[in-house]
Amino acid sequence: DDETPTIAVHPTRKVSQINPNIYAGFTEHMGRCIYGGIYDPGNPLSDENGFRKDVVDALKELNIPTVRYPGGNFCATYHWLDGVGPKDQRPSRPELAWLGTETNQFGTDEFMKWCETVGTEPYLCFNFGTGTLDEALAWVEYCNGTGNTYYANMRRKNGREEPYNVKYWALGNEVWGPWQVEQMTKEAYAHKALQWAKALKLLDPSLVLILCGQDGTASWDYYTLKQCLVPAHSALSTSAVPLIDMHSIHMYTSSNEHLPNATAPLAAERAIEITSALIDLARIENKVPPSQPRPTICFDEWNVWDPIRAEGSLGAEESYTLSDALAVAIWLNVFVRKSRDVGMACIAQTVNVISPLMTTKEGIIKQTTWWPLYLFSRFMRGWTVSAHVSCGVYEGETAPVWLRSAMDTPWLDVSASLGEDGYVDLVVVNINEKRGFETKIEGVRGPVDVYTVTGEGVQSTNMKGKEEVSIRESKWDGGVHYEFPKHSMTLMRWKAE
Ligand code: AHR
Repeated sequence: DDETPTIAVHPTRKVSQINPNIYAGFTEHMGRCIYGGIYDPGNPLSDENGFRKDVVDALKELNIPTVRYPGGNFCATYHWLDGVGPKDQRPSRPELAWLGTETNQFGTDEFMKWCETVGTEPYLCFNFGTGTLDEALAWVEYCNGTGNTYYANMRRKNGREEPYNVKYWALGNEVWGPWQVEQMTKEAYAHKALQWAKALKLLDPSLVLILCGQDGTASWDYYTLKQCLVPAHSALSTSAVPLIDMHSIHMYTSSNEHLPNATAPLAAERAIEITSALIDLARIENKVPPSQPRPTICFDEWNVWDPIRAEGSLGAEESYTLSDALAVAIWLNVFVRKSRDVGMACIAQTVNVISPLMTTKEGIIKQTTWWPLYLFSRFMRGWTVSAHVSCGVYEGETAPVWLRSAMDTPWLDVSASLGEDGYVDLVVVNINEKRGFETKIEGVRGPVDVYTVTGEGVQSTNMKGKEEVSIRESKWDGGVHYEFPKHSMTLMRWKAE
């Protein structure tokens, strides 16, 4: 009938390659993310480095390619030199982002070691508040230097002979924010970012430098892109080395009502489209030669977050529901659909703070939002392929975000990929809390492995002593119709022809 949705998947129509970095993480010196989260010396669950083994194992399962560090807002007053060398000589300092005390017991070398343990790549953020360019250059030299130079030798003295080869570096964090020690006008920021980028690329042209954007749609984004996406600096060895490689944007979504909560991430899709257009516009206006690689978007903070409802003094320990898990599934559908433009996306954050993974003294809890992240990271890799859904749309205002106000919200939210292994993966999120949708799927070939994330109701949570939301595995013969259950995320996979 007219009401029956149809999903048409075309595995041969490749849209763009999915950068594995869309499954990146973020660990900040904030709340219990580092201390008591990934680093808990003395706990029997920790290894000889003080790293929580259960957290490491869980993150290995998640297979996160890159992790951002040390913030966040924390960066604005962080001096990396405080956090290297013998631990008993490291200073404790007042910390101005979250108003605590930073003991510096966990610093650059500990983070690098932790990344190696987890099997992930580091992404570091410079201090654009109280930090200097000299300090930034020194940090790069400390991490990546191979010569007989002062900071490279300091790293060797601290026990690490080989360079860490840190590729990703951010030119500040949310510098536009009124809460920042580092707050600047867009004019001042663009000037400083360009100056730092020149010096940093002269030191090491292989760095991937990430410009600090806002949400991708602000005049801040327009202005900073226009000023900083310029033809390569003449002192650099080749015109293929741009000063800026990525543009960072941040967005957190939430609502107390299920439908707007689950669908609000669609605003991010619009923000990505706008940012992408601003990148093109800046390159056209600045006459950047096409040989210079086009910057991608680094969505280096995204998640569902409502600091009012979340627990803890920082409003950071969220107790996620099934509704939030569906929102995370839609966030990830957006990144897969927009894989041409998104070079990295970091869920904020990786442990305890606004996170799908929580620790207690005795173990870990995988929140509802863990499961969509796990399924996407495991299967939605390779290429985004064309998937078209025709179905009804929700009535009225669904996502209370300005960007969405004039757009439809379809009943089903989908994305599809084709992996190196020759498997097609299709994700379908049925947001509706009252009804399933019998759906015609074109292009499917049985047998189909089916993974369903759902629970009793949209308020189900894993934080009340019981795992109410997890994955259910089943098989389907790949017939014409499949019913997507109410309030669920379904991932289907089958071998392409
Ligand atoms: O992720 C929590 C905080 O949110 C980050 O420190 C900051 O960048 C953002 O405002």
